[in-house]
Amino acid sequence: MSAPNIETIVSLAKRRGFVYPSSEIYGGLGSAWDYGPLGVELCNNVKQAWWRWMVYERDDIEGLDSSIILNRLVWKYSGHEDTFSDPLVDCRECNTRLRADKLNDGKCPNCGSNNLTEPRPFNLMFRTHVGAAAEDDEASLVYLRPETAQGIFINFNNVLTTSRRKLPFGVAQIGKSFRNEVTPGNFIFRTREFEQMEMEYFVRPGEDEPAHQEWIDACRQWFLDIGIAGDNLRLYEQPKEELAHYAKRTVDIQYRFFPERDGAEKQWDELMGIANRIDFDLRTHSKKPEDAEGKRLNPDSTEDLSYFDEATKERFYPYVIEPAAGVNRTVLAVLMDAYTEKTNDKGETRVILKLHPALAPIKTAVLPLAKNKPEIVALAKSIKRSLQPSLRAVYDDTGGIGKLYARQDEIGTPFCVTVDHQSLEDNEVTVRDRDTWEQERVKVAELEAYLLKRLEA
Ligand code: GAP
Repeated sequence: MSAPNIETIVSLAKRRGFVYPSSEIYGGLGSAWDYGPLGVELCNNVKQAWWRWMVYERDDIEGLDSSIILNRLVWKYSGHEDTFSDPLVDCRECNTRLRADKLNDGKCPNCGSNNLTEPRPFNLMFRTHVGAAAEDDEASLVYLRPETAQGIFINFNNVLTTSRRKLPFGVAQIGKSFRNEVTPGNFIFRTREFEQMEMEYFVRPGEDEPAHQEWIDACRQWFLDIGIAGDNLRLYEQPKEELAHYAKRTVDIQYRFFPERDGAEKQWDELMGIANRIDFDLRTHSKKPEDAEGKRLNPDSTEDLSYFDEATKERFYPYVIEPAAGVNRTVLAVLMDAYTEKTNDKGETRVILKLHPALAPIKTAVLPLAKNKPEIVALAKSIKRSLQPSLRAVYDDTGGIGKLYARQDEIGTPFCVTVDHQSLEDNEVTVRDRDTWEQERVKVAELEAYLLKRLEA
């Protein structure tokens, strides 16, 4: 089967309650999406898998949850006030607003005209005001954060002293970020409100390059471990002219989000970035930056974010390696990668979402073979209740068994448990595997342990 395109996923996502267009009853809001009952589970499972891998399974990472609204000075010194912008042009013929850097041949993609304005910078940070202030009151102006990273840098000393860490160590954060994107689109690929999973890894200068390479390899491996096919992932070395102002080197992990596009290069886009931010951030937020030319002097900060190495008695600004992934792009990649179609012996084609069990929104559906038989229904409901403290289980009796299986296949439920007449006699149920459609009889008393083992495998 050829790879699904995003439209196939949009349709599945809406039909089955993963993702809905936001504010739909009022005509929607461009490129805003709401995560439904299955979508919220999938997002939570992605975040949990990332946090488990990043924080729990390592010895050198702490967690953090910083504010979305920070002091405006954070964004002044991070460089975002001056440089976090896209070059904007307007088409004079049809008034479409476009990103100059995305125009392939200098013509408006809407009407084909090349009568465009000169590019001008458009800052992507959302502005708002704190307190009961007027719209034009500069003193109360704040931004919604466009990345979670700065919340980590400004807490460097707090985490260092409270956790008694020594280099190298990292601080991870998952949370919402906001960018007033000029051209959002492609479903949840580019939106104005999205979620990031970021980690800032602090190392000694000179140890940054090997650490960077290790994180690039580790992050790629993580995507493989959550079930994404290696063929749909590639590393992209950002050329010098694309690098952000703080970066020494950045490698993106790209996913084949657009398999239907002509031209191999156009099929790939960024899933995450892994940047070497050197000491830019800690230095710029420090009260006494040691910049010989007096650049990036910061008279507003009250702290120095340098690090004192007890062993060598040296003081310096650590370098930072930053793996930064999007929750929503990961969810999109996971859905696209898991999407398969299978034809049964009656010639009917079904969608099977082969999600990694750890990511599947529902781990098990308990289905009664006959819903008009109270004993079967009661047993099925009690099995569902007995499973639910340890895994996400649902009960469904709203169709024939074939239809119920098909529904669970389509949302990626790894196992269905069927309770039948025989179950009342022998206390066994049928467990059906989503991917192979193989069935096995399992004792009710052993069901929970059986499922947990197979879900982990
Ligand atoms: N702190 C570094 C940073 O924010 P980024 O490459 O701008 O780097 C990291 O963002 C990740 O966040 C991206 O790889 C992408 O997955 C996600 N992301 C960024 N902008 C997004 C948007 N408008 N919509 C959805 N995801 C976005």
